[in-house]
Amino acid sequence: MANTATLEINDKKYEFPLITGTENEVAMDISNLRGVTEGVTTLDGGFKNTGSCKSSVTFLDGEKGVLRYRGYSIEELAEKADFLEVAFLLIFGELPNKEELEKFHADIKKNSIVDEDVKKILDAFPKSAHPMGVLSSLTSALTAFNPDSVDVDSEEDVYNSIVRILGKFPVLVAWAMRKKSGLPLDYGDKNLGYVENILKMMFKVPNEEYTQNQIVVDALDKLLILHADHEQNCSTSTVRIVGSSHAGLFASISAGISALWGPLHGGANQAVLEMLEAIKEDGGDTKKYMAKAKDKADPFRLMGFGHRVYKNFDPRATIIKVAADEVLEDLGVEDPILDIAKGLEQEALNDDYFVKRKLYPNVDFYSGIIYRAMGIPTEMFTVMFALGRLPGWIAQWREMRLNKEPIGRPRQLYTGETARSFTAVEKR
Ligand code: CMC
Repeated sequence: MANTATLEINDKKYEFPLITGTENEVAMDISNLRGVTEGVTTLDGGFKNTGSCKSSVTFLDGEKGVLRYRGYSIEELAEKADFLEVAFLLIFGELPNKEELEKFHADIKKNSIVDEDVKKILDAFPKSAHPMGVLSSLTSALTAFNPDSVDVDSEEDVYNSIVRILGKFPVLVAWAMRKKSGLPLDYGDKNLGYVENILKMMFKVPNEEYTQNQIVVDALDKLLILHADHEQNCSTSTVRIVGSSHAGLFASISAGISALWGPLHGGANQAVLEMLEAIKEDGGDTKKYMAKAKDKADPFRLMGFGHRVYKNFDPRATIIKVAADEVLEDLGVEDPILDIAKGLEQEALNDDYFVKRKLYPNVDFYSGIIYRAMGIPTEMFTVMFALGRLPGWIAQWREMRLNKEPIGRPRQLYTGETARSFTAVEKR
């Protein structure tokens, strides 16, 4: 392939370098476009064609349904690794050896105490508050309780802030859930694995022993791995752009949580379950909802279907679908919602509208069914997504700072009024 691209504007030709990535993807480097063309800019709503950075964290091929973290396939990681190993891999680039992993976990545990005063902030929220809003606020508040600035050129500083957020975030997640159910707040158990500790912090009831269920631990571990990174999605791009102003890690992640909350992104897992329940309440008529999804006059979309990048299948959904079957069977849960989900999936896969637009079930279509079987309340589903995505946000934030990326500041094409004179209020 040529290594330059030529652009012609008003009979003038401009050359731009073509850059090839390690997976042979090609990008046209237009970083000097405005300078050489004297003001021409690009317009790409939703950044459908725009690469915002070079990244070596995650590779995905939407046509082939490939997803790899640092070169390792998601299928292999979901089967063989645990969440903390994957977190280390994403953040630092290589799988940890035994000592590195033990030290990483020990440092996270050492940093898991959240200041008691954070409970006062939590207390000020009404019980009805959505836990994603609570989590975003508490994560932002962590900055005030951990004010040391991070020198990104200091490996030690960056490492310390990483283990701090990985230690404290699960505590905040558990507190956000326990606040809603009126349970006392806890700090977890340092003798447990990372995921086991999360479950205990969420579910331990006073005056009762908490017994770990290995099926639940393994399923949650897998779900967290599947959600751990997804290159430049909406929340990750938010984390990178907030961090590009040199805002701290906690502040950047708090912004990422807000971006994840929306139903077109992470909020879809809650929306899927609410949709499946609504279909069940309405008599289980999936055809009616298929018709609504296809009706352009109806704002209803089939939640859990479609993806900006995956146009054949979402490899995470394939793994989750199998896991959902296993978990429900192992736990002896019979959930009519699962039948509705399967029915809907079959209809969509054979429907022209969905086939033509390449709309397939995404990661969120089945994850809520597993979370529900684990006893996690529906409003907490997107919080669980955030818990999984945390290492990815950290890895991408760290990469952006280490690469010394410039502040994110897109251009626009102005379409408003041209210059006009002010009219005094009495003359308007
Ligand atoms: N139900 C019905 N029609 C849909 C759906 C859907 N779920 N998704 C896309 N379409 C249609 C859309 O109306 C459009 O039709 P037309 O070409 O006739 O105008 C066409 O398919 C292309 O859709 P788009 O909105 O231009 O595609 P996008 O790449 O901008 O949006 C999406 C991707 C994920 C936001 C969208 O598919 C969607 O809203 N899905 C439902 C929400 C969802 O499940 N989100 C979770 C995504 S996976 C988790 C994550 O990583 O965040």
